[in-house]
Amino acid sequence: MKVTVVGAGAVGATCADNIARKELAEEVVLLDIKEGFAEGKSIDMMQTATLLGFDTKITGVTGDYSKTAGSGVVVITSGLPRKPGMTREELIGINAGIVKGVAENILKYSPDAIFIVISNPMDTMTYLALKSLGLPKNRIIGMGGTLDSSRFKYYLSQALSCNPNDLQGFVIGGHGDTTMIPLTRFATYQGLPVSELLDEETLQKVAADTMVGGATLTGLIGTSAWYAPGAAGAALVEAIVRDEKKLFTCCVALEGEYGQSDICLGVPVIIGRNGWELIVDFPLNDTEQAALNKSADAVRGMNKVLAEMNLI
Ligand code: LAC
Repeated sequence: MKVTVVGAGAVGATCADNIARKELAEEVVLLDIKEGFAEGKSIDMMQTATLLGFDTKITGVTGDYSKTAGSGVVVITSGLPRKPGMTREELIGINAGIVKGVAENILKYSPDAIFIVISNPMDTMTYLALKSLGLPKNRIIGMGGTLDSSRFKYYLSQALSCNPNDLQGFVIGGHGDTTMIPLTRFATYQGLPVSELLDEETLQKVAADTMVGGATLTGLIGTSAWYAPGAAGAALVEAIVRDEKKLFTCCVALEGEYGQSDICLGVPVIIGRNGWELIVDFPLNDTEQAALNKSADAVRGMNKVLAEMNLI
């Protein structure tokens, strides 16, 4: 299969790198608008092929969408990243026009592609892709919750001094500092609820740290994180190309599920060859459902800007 990653910045390049190392595709096309940028990064990555022993071919292109033709999966990372002190939401004015243009250009050459959206504000960019491309909803996937769930397990592992791979846990809702909902009640250490191992105060701190996980890194690094966002994108590509039927939290179109409609929001889904194939209905309690409703209201508020910008 051919996979395209749009945007050769840190997130896009890391995503392409992960895809190549895992040999998830015969070819990865990395596209950027900055002259020579994607070519340079692709050549640098290709020069690791004999060191790492992968056979995936990575091709860098400047703005030439014809080179992406026939892609089965496309990852969109285009747009500006966050600067310290900035929210993801503040990026909408710049990123919405970019993401819409990218998505439409991709579709011209890859009519059967499954779209994975990483650009921020991710929930609104996913909704924009859904509305402007007119594709079946299963082919539009926002990455946010996959990353946030991984961060949640990292913070839990720190609190428990355990291997993060022994943990289960997921984050639903929006991919924003105040809209994401780490579901501490469902988190387990090899099946044992973490609430039996950590006191309420520690659990609340884990949840709070998870919610500002991206902002914390932006403060430390000076720009948005990329290793985990890029790896999260590649994990979704892997689940699609290998038809894994694995559960991830992703931002998908809701039509009544979890009490929400006309919105793309993070919920647990099964990812396989057809994109997101099923929404898994976890029974939320009243507090969790109220948090999800509040998160949906905030995301819906953001989505209104798309109409004001005449983008949908
Ligand atoms: C983050 C950005 C990619 O959370 O949204 O790091």
